[in-house]
Amino acid sequence: MENDFLWWRDGIIYQIYPRSFADSNNDGIGDLQGIIGKLDYLQSLGIDAIWLSPIFPSPDVDFGYDVANYKDIDPKFGTMADFKQLVVGAKQRKIHIILDLVLNHTADQHPWFLQSKKSKDNPYHDWYLWEDPKLNGDPPNNWQSIFGGPAWEYDPDLDQYYYHMFYKEQPDLNWRNPNVRKEMLSIFSFWLENGVDGFRLDVFNAYFKDAQLRDNPSKFGIRAFERQEHFYDNSQPEMISLLNEIRHILDQYPGSYTVGETFLANTEQTAQYIGEDKLHAAFNFDFAENRWHPKRFLSSAKKWYRALQEDDWPNNFLSNHDMTRAATRYSFGEDDRRAKVAAAMLLTIKGTPFIYYGEEIGMRDITIRKKSDIKDPIGKTFWPLYKGRDSCRSPMQWTDEENAGFSKSDPWLPVNQNYSTRNVQNLAKDPNSILSFTKKIISIRKNEPALQRGDFIPLATDPKHLLAYSRKYQEDEIILLLNFSSRELAYDLPKGVWISLFEDRKTFEKQVNIRPYQVYILKRED
Ligand code: NOJ
Ligand code: CA
Repeated sequence: MENDFLWWRDGIIYQIYPRSFADSNNDGIGDLQGIIGKLDYLQSLGIDAIWLSPIFPSPDVDFGYDVANYKDIDPKFGTMADFKQLVVGAKQRKIHIILDLVLNHTADQHPWFLQSKKSKDNPYHDWYLWEDPKLNGDPPNNWQSIFGGPAWEYDPDLDQYYYHMFYKEQPDLNWRNPNVRKEMLSIFSFWLENGVDGFRLDVFNAYFKDAQLRDNPSKFGIRAFERQEHFYDNSQPEMISLLNEIRHILDQYPGSYTVGETFLANTEQTAQYIGEDKLHAAFNFDFAENRWHPKRFLSSAKKWYRALQEDDWPNNFLSNHDMTRAATRYSFGEDDRRAKVAAAMLLTIKGTPFIYYGEEIGMRDITIRKKSDIKDPIGKTFWPLYKGRDSCRSPMQWTDEENAGFSKSDPWLPVNQNYSTRNVQNLAKDPNSILSFTKKIISIRKNEPALQRGDFIPLATDPKHLLAYSRKYQEDEIILLLNFSSRELAYDLPKGVWISLFEDRKTFEKQVNIRPYQVYILKRED
């Protein structure tokens, strides 16, 4: 069994937002030495890989998602030597490292862009998407930035527009330029040679836009961006052959992995990018966007599995650095019962689970009260309708000490006020906490190939309150019963004797009663 364990299929991936995880030098910003100091914690949690949100030099308009150098470490996070130490420390603990590559755009401070805007005949000019204005001075077409306003920014010196899907400080690269393509591909080998095991590709399906720059057709929507069908500004056919090329590089490093963040794509479109000559995995947002209803999660999961080819492997997540945390979406106040059910589902449903830092302690979003407190520029643009993404990026809560043990000086974002009780140190002592519960399920999962790579079979039940499924692998069969409701439920078990994999090791036959928000993991006794 040990031998066929494949980390990215059978294991668990933990997303770290480095600015907010642990601050070793007390400047208020998390860093690599901070992460190194928490590797024992991550090992004890039982995760198999960490995905680091970008750690490359960045002017931080989009906090790392605007990269100024793809082959170095941002000094606020540490040095290349720190990074190597992290790789070694992680490897010793069988933790794999996934880097976040943001290759759709660079920072406007990247030397390539600075060159590019110098003159139209600069060799780097064509590295970005520069276009002449229309005769009346308008932008070349109707494309919009998802972060607000037109996607075209006028440069009076050049009398041209450049294109940016995100902030204007994030100009999109021209992937049709062979020099760009070559340079970008070299980034993969560079980091693979430096001991990295995989990559998360930021908005990879946006790399190519329509070569003829056709206008997007309009549709009903509220914001300008939503009033268009995004036919021409993403998901162009050229992407597939590029994915083939990327995969070819990765295949020279056995065991390496890529997970893509599909942009503006539904489940079926997302699935098309996965395959043996494409990505290993891509994020299915549909699953994460469900409201608290077992039927919804079940139908998203089924849709996801149906969309994938036989040899593809799904992955699932409920939170990330761009969305409200799962516990905030599902729970009432500080009550963790729903967050526990969500964790149990994420860790036992078919597909590699991605845990967002702090999810294991049920971290909640922070409340943003004043516009002037906002760090994420979109929060200012859309205030007060949308407050941006600061809320889900608050510092990790380690202890009940000052700043939750994250830093000895003021953190870049405030710590959630619940930290005096909701922190790792405190919850680790409580056998009933969400942290102890999550750890327990992870350790059960570690011993059960059926929970890792088993088939998924939905079980008939009352779909309003109970999510029930079985996972089967070779001779093993495990039933999961997740009570999404505050009611006590009864469930008729399939024939046989079923043993609970929680500590109690109780056995059940025929019927089981499930308390409100209770979770059962039952294995067929042989
Ligand atoms: C998706 C990332 O997850 C998000 O944080 C970022 O702002 C955009 N891509 C642009 O890179
Ligand atoms: Ca620091």
